[in-house]
Amino acid sequence: MKYLITGGAGFIGSHLSEELLKQGHDIISIDNFNDYYDPLLKQKNYASVQNTAKENGCFYMLYKGDIRDKKIIEEIFSKHSIDGVVSLAANAGVRPSIQDPLYYVDVNLMGLTNLLEASKKHNVKGFVFISSSSVYGNNKKVPFSENDIVDNPISPYAATKKAGELLCYTYHALYDMNIACLRYFTVYGPRQRPDLAINKFTRLMLENQPIPMYGDGTTARDYTYVSDIVDGTIKALNYVSKKDKHIYDIFNLGGSHPISLRDLINVISNTMNKKAVINQLPMQAGDVDMTYSDYSHAKEILNYEPKIRIEEGIKQFIEWYMRTQR
Ligand SMILES: NC(=O)c1ccc[n+]([C@@H]2O[C@H](COP(=O)([O-])OP(=O)(O)OC[C@H]3O[C@@H](n4cnc5c(N)ncnc54)[C@H](O)[C@@H]3O)[C@@H](O)[C@H]2O)c1
Repeated sequence: MKYLITGGAGFIGSHLSEELLKQGHDIISIDNFNDYYDPLLKQKNYASVQNTAKENGCFYMLYKGDIRDKKIIEEIFSKHSIDGVVSLAANAGVRPSIQDPLYYVDVNLMGLTNLLEASKKHNVKGFVFISSSSVYGNNKKVPFSENDIVDNPISPYAATKKAGELLCYTYHALYDMNIACLRYFTVYGPRQRPDLAINKFTRLMLENQPIPMYGDGTTARDYTYVSDIVDGTIKALNYVSKKDKHIYDIFNLGGSHPISLRDLINVISNTMNKKAVINQLPMQAGDVDMTYSDYSHAKEILNYEPKIRIEEGIKQFIEWYMRTQR
């Protein structure tokens, strides 16, 4: 199969591309290498995917371009016979979306619509849209289930993800495209974005700097290791690639084991055998109190079952960090 992975030089996109190449698929990718974080890190991810393609004898081509650019998207779809799309490219930060909502709406919704249009035009049946647990806002009921009402996003980022799910439904209804929307719960592991907590805390601890803790440390996140996320995403891609089906579905991909911010800092500190100095700060606007996934739907339909628990995942992340980032 030949798949288009958008955002393929990013944290999750590079892991997903590598795993699909190892499974013998061909990959077309697009990434604009923006400077939300150091583009050099994305270049390294890209180089690693290139190596994996070479090792596995598979076709791999990355277009340096923007998903909002109709010309380049049309070029990709008309040159390559795409069997399925995974739409990862997006502006991904919660807090920055409050500073620049127009940019978030532009990339996350105009870019997505551009891809849906091209997929429709070129009869691509299977489409996977990457949504986020942030659509649940400050949902009081835990764990979060796909049947919960998600009409109260508390950041522009979260609102674009919810709107993206709606756009996907429209393309499914109008053009019978098979679409799965995956609500990822905080993803971590090697190559994690440097703005995310585990990566940032590890760096600060190594530099003997205090760790900013927003709130009293009781906010909690359901962390999901990147290999589990990749596994669930590929299962969803296989599911929507079934030509004889009519699929629109939403799946939580999480770990179902939320951990408080204070406990997370303790796990990192114990793994590094280093005492953490904490700088307590007020809660940030847009941050939710807790995320907690009920992934029973993904388990039932996709056979998704996360394997890596937080202690093991943090250990693997820190080993990677010490090996490559110092
Ligand atoms: N990391 C998480 O915890 C998490 C949680 C929930 C959802 N997600 C979603 O998963 C996806 C990937 O996240 P990530 O953590 O790998 O982020 P990332 O920033 O590492 O990857 C996104 C990639 O998309 C590219 N990109 C951004 N705008 C683009 C554009 N206009 N055109 C082409 N490329 C563009 C970036 O250069 C980047 O390489 C995003 O959609 C994000 O919202 C991530």
